[in-house]
Amino acid sequence: MLKDQTIQIIKSTVPVLEVHGTAITTRFYERLFTYHPELLHIFNHANQKQGRQQTALANAVYAAALHIDKLENILPAVKQIAHKHRSLGIKAEHYPIVGQNLLAAIKEVLGDAATDEIIQAWTEAYGVIADAFIQVEADMYQQAEEQPGGWADYRAFRVERKVQESEVITSFYLVPKDGRAVASFEPGQYVSLKVNIPGDEYTHIRQYSLSDAPGKSCYRISVKREDALEGRPAGKVSVYLHNHIEEGGELLLSAPAGDFTLDQTDSRPAVLLSGGVGLTPMISMLNTIVDKQPQREVIFIHAARNGSVHAMREHVEQTAAKHPQLKVYWCYEQPTDNDAASGTAHHTGFIDQQWLKGVLPTVDAGFYYCGPTPFMKAVHRALLGCGVQEADIHYEFFGPKQSLE
Ligand SMILES: Cc1cc2nc3c(=O)[nH]c(=O)nc-3n(C[C@H](O)[C@H](O)[C@H](O)COP(=O)(O)OP(=O)(O)OC[C@H]3O[C@@H](n4cnc5c(N)ncnc54)[C@H](O)[C@@H]3O)c2cc1C
Ligand code: HEM
Repeated sequence: MLKDQTIQIIKSTVPVLEVHGTAITTRFYERLFTYHPELLHIFNHANQKQGRQQTALANAVYAAALHIDKLENILPAVKQIAHKHRSLGIKAEHYPIVGQNLLAAIKEVLGDAATDEIIQAWTEAYGVIADAFIQVEADMYQQAEEQPGGWADYRAFRVERKVQESEVITSFYLVPKDGRAVASFEPGQYVSLKVNIPGDEYTHIRQYSLSDAPGKSCYRISVKREDALEGRPAGKVSVYLHNHIEEGGELLLSAPAGDFTLDQTDSRPAVLLSGGVGLTPMISMLNTIVDKQPQREVIFIHAARNGSVHAMREHVEQTAAKHPQLKVYWCYEQPTDNDAASGTAHHTGFIDQQWLKGVLPTVDAGFYYCGPTPFMKAVHRALLGCGVQEADIHYEFFGPKQSLE
């Protein structure tokens, strides 16, 4: 247990650290990768370059520090991060490395203001926070390994089938190379995929949501190819998967992880909203509901730029034809002439509160959504505006978690 005085020092210095947030985290990562270049095999370089991860890790340490005397209050947040860490292969031995470099960065940036007393208090606090993460993650590793068909780190899978779903999205059906069973998962969960791209010095790890219901002999992931755009390089892993991984190819997968999962004990309607490739966890949820909760009403709303990049439309429409309790709405931002002629879109432009209100049968439902950040923000605002309760809202970011405010 930390002493009261230590807790006071921690709480009073968090605002100071936040003021110097960017300087500290930038220095922290410079140090981390200078002294431990092996960690470049684990961290996402694109997130680093865009500063998305810089803020996430250190801010989470500060947020945890504010709750240092009752860490159990932030257990859901800890678990969400721990799922990601477990899928990436973060181990107890990594924590002192992060701790030492974070503290050294704090000392460098604050200079004389970082007294010995402050550094000592933070050393102790980091130890308490790290222990909490290590414990939660140890349980998760054990659970991942001991479940039927489970494993602890990365397991080799063979691409059994590669299926193009739209101009930009392709599915990969993956079976374990060892021929043994695959672990089940909760609809909405993802796997981490580790790839070695020939010519690249470091491995790359990315997360992909499982895009079909559990209970099959294989996993399916569906990947959007992130092509180069002006001022933006092509996505490393997605382009590699699309262009170089063919049927028969091999991929390394973590066991399924993540806390964005369908509550199958809830019998109220499920409203599944997705934008672009954010539809992958929604398809898993949809397929699970029609299979396991056939009476449950489902409202499936999908937003795409237009019909040519709209994946799995046929599958959802065929499912709706068989299940009258499933209502489907397509929202196209810029319908093509073809889309306009066929009248496919139920809504043109972005999803807004007024349109949503018109199609929702009730706000007493479970709401699940995933898509690009602007889509998530618009949906979040619209749902709250329609009177949906925060507790009924569940969402996933396809990158480090961000604020929806
Ligand atoms: C929980 C979770 C689930 C996910 N599920 C899916 C899924 O089901 N399907 C799916 O397709 N994706 C999914 N993702 C996203 C996926 O993990 C990858 O982020 C995505 O495939 C892009 O990876 P990449 O290696 O191709 O691109 P990266 O190389 O990681 O680049 C990402 C983006 O950053 C840009 N970028 C890179 N470097 C720079 C730079 N220097 N300056 C400016 N911009 C830059 C690139 O142009 C690209 O648009 C999921 C992510 C998470 C966290
Ligand atoms: C108490 C200490 C730590 C805290 C509070 C913490 C917090 C976080 C947070 C908030 C995220 C973003 C989660 C999201 O996707 O939303 C994250 C991701 C990540 N963490 Fe940690 N972390 C800690 C320790 C570590 C350690 C010890 C390592 C390994 C060296 C590590 C490696 C990573 C990696 C690789 C990611 C994924 C980021 C990416 O590359 O995009 N973390 N962590």
